[in-house]
Amino acid sequence: MNDEIVSPMASISRPAPEPEKTHGQGLFITGTDTEIGKTEVTLGLMSALQQRGQRVLGMKPVAAGCAVTADGLRNEDALRIQAQGSLPVAYARINPYAFAPPIAPHIAAAQAGVEIALAPIQAAYQRLAVQADWVIVEGVGGWRVPLGPELTLADLPRALALPVLLVVGLRLGCLNHALLSAEAIQASGLPLAGWIANGVDPAMAAAEDNLATLRARLPAPCLGVIPWLQRPTPVQVADHLRQSLKRLSCATEPPLPCDGLRRAR
Ligand SMILES: Nc1ncnc2c1ncn2[C@@H]1O[C@H](COP(=O)(O)OP(=O)(O)OP(=O)(O)O)[C@@H](O)[C@H]1O
Ligand SMILES: [Mg+2]
Repeated sequence: MNDEIVSPMASISRPAPEPEKTHGQGLFITGTDTEIGKTEVTLGLMSALQQRGQRVLGMKPVAAGCAVTADGLRNEDALRIQAQGSLPVAYARINPYAFAPPIAPHIAAAQAGVEIALAPIQAAYQRLAVQADWVIVEGVGGWRVPLGPELTLADLPRALALPVLLVVGLRLGCLNHALLSAEAIQASGLPLAGWIANGVDPAMAAAEDNLATLRARLPAPCLGVIPWLQRPTPVQVADHLRQSLKRLSCATEPPLPCDGLRRAR
C-alpha cells in the first residue's frame, strides 16, 4: 500500500494542475490550534453524513507524527479517518505525505528530504472524490502552518477548491485564535462555511460567555457546539452536528439530504 506514498523529491517542481471536475463534494477542516478537535469533528461529520445515506471518505493530506509499521509510516488521525470511510481506500490516498516526528510539517518534510507539493494531494483527493458523495479533509495544525519554503496550509483548500470549516477549541485563548484564524481564512479569499465550537476543556471558566463572544464576532455561522465528552466517538459527535448539516449553506444541485455544504467544484 505504501507504494503510493509520495517519495522524497517527487513532484517538487511540477506545477499543480487545475482541479478537475468530480461528482463529490468536500469540506476542509481547520482549527484554532493543534489538539483542539479537528479529527473528532472530521469523524463526527463523516458519521453524520453517513447517517444520511451519503458515501463519505476522509483525508489527512499531511501528517507529522507517524508510527513506523511494516506497511510504512502510519498516522493515528489518518488511520481513524480511513476506518471511518464508507469504502476501503488505500492508506496512501488518505495520507499522501506522512512523516515520523511529531513536529512542524515543513521541518519534518525537510528532515525527510521531501518537499510537499500540491499535485500529489490533488491527485489523491480526486481519486477519493470520484468514489464518494463527500470527502472531508482534515488540515494539520492551524491555518498559518507552513508546509514548505513557500507552501502553507491555506494552499491546500485553495488547490482542492474546498470551503473551510473552522473548529474552535473552547479554552482560554480561543477568542484570539478564532478571530485571527477567521480573519486569515477570509483574507485568503476562501469561503468560511462556518465554525464549530468544541468543548475540549471541561473546566473552562465562562465558557458560555466565550461562546456568546464568538457568536457575536466571528464572521460566519456557528454550525454546532460539541460539549466535552468523556470519550468522544464519531456517533456521539455526530449527534451534536445534526443541525450543522442543515445550517451549512448549499449551492448544489440536486439538493442533498444535508441541504448543506456547497459543492466543492
Ligand atoms: N468534545 C470533546 N470532548 C472531550 N475530548 C475531546 C473533545 N474533542 C476532542 N477531544 C480530545 O482532545 C484530543 C485532541 O482532539 P483531536 O485529536 O481531534 O485534535 P486535533 O485538532 O485533530 O489534533 P491534531 O492537530 O493533532 O490533528 C483527543 O484526545 C480528543 O479525543
Ligand atoms: Mg487531528
